[in-house]
Amino acid sequence: MSSESAQGTAALPRPLSLDRSDSPVPATSIEDTVSLEESRGTQAHVPLPVYLQQTYWWAYLHPASVRIFERQWLVNLILWGNFAELRDAALKELEPFSNGNILQVACVYGDFTERLTQRLGPNGRLDVVDVAPVQLENLKTKLDNDTLHIGLHHQDSTNLRFADASYDCVVVFFLLHEQPENIRIRTIAQALRVVKPGGKVVFVDYHRPDWLNPFRYVMIPILTSLEPFAMDLWRKDIMEWLPDGARDLKIDKQTFFGGLYQKVVITTQS
Ligand SMILES: C[S@@+](CC[C@H](N)C(=O)[O-])C[C@H]1O[C@@H](n2cnc3c(N)ncnc32)[C@H](O)[C@@H]1O
Repeated sequence: MSSESAQGTAALPRPLSLDRSDSPVPATSIEDTVSLEESRGTQAHVPLPVYLQQTYWWAYLHPASVRIFERQWLVNLILWGNFAELRDAALKELEPFSNGNILQVACVYGDFTERLTQRLGPNGRLDVVDVAPVQLENLKTKLDNDTLHIGLHHQDSTNLRFADASYDCVVVFFLLHEQPENIRIRTIAQALRVVKPGGKVVFVDYHRPDWLNPFRYVMIPILTSLEPFAMDLWRKDIMEWLPDGARDLKIDKQTFFGGLYQKVVITTQS
């Protein structure tokens, strides 16, 4: 594991907004967001992104995908046994905000969200967004029906319908590598838009492994054939996708497993 810290050259003069006509919505309950709103027809239309339909349909959209992939051991195997370490590294960053508002951008197979909710304090709240209804329904089965502290929202990471500066911490766990670069840039900008001054955005994702790491050579054919956008994270730092006009952000980067994975924590100016 290795880490470095950098003071970025950019900050957010004001929260960035990519939202179009949709007005921000307050956090709402599981029922309101996953089922009731949809059945009442009040939910904004959230189309499935093309990359998800074309590249990841088998992993996240097909009815059998949840049955196949919702296995802790399999999620851990996909990350070469590193799931727990990466999950806990992300959750550790949330500790100071256990009584604040936390946003998780995109669901994850395995127990990431369950563990996150276990760390919430009495006044803490977690909102989770995902663009695939089947993933939200699956997540719902893994969580207590605690609508006071948990909200599930059918939204796209590039168009979050939350107010600017409304979360103390935003966590984006293994989403960026699945997105084409132009989409990834918008996801990052949205995460920064909704985080409060003095809050944190936590990214955990792939990273270019060290030359001597044998997994470097194992992962090239796997990623290039199954995850066509993932190699972007080997070529560029997440910092390179931060929005223009951002400055004075505190950026901490830590790598894991010989550099194959990274955690990047961006702390915004208070
Ligand atoms: C966060 S990644 C998690 C990958 C990880 N390997 C795992 O363990 O599942 C996958 C999730 O991202 C969601 N997703 C992909 N693109 C999205 C977007 N634009 N907005 C919101 N969720 C998105 C997918 O629907 C899926 O549930």
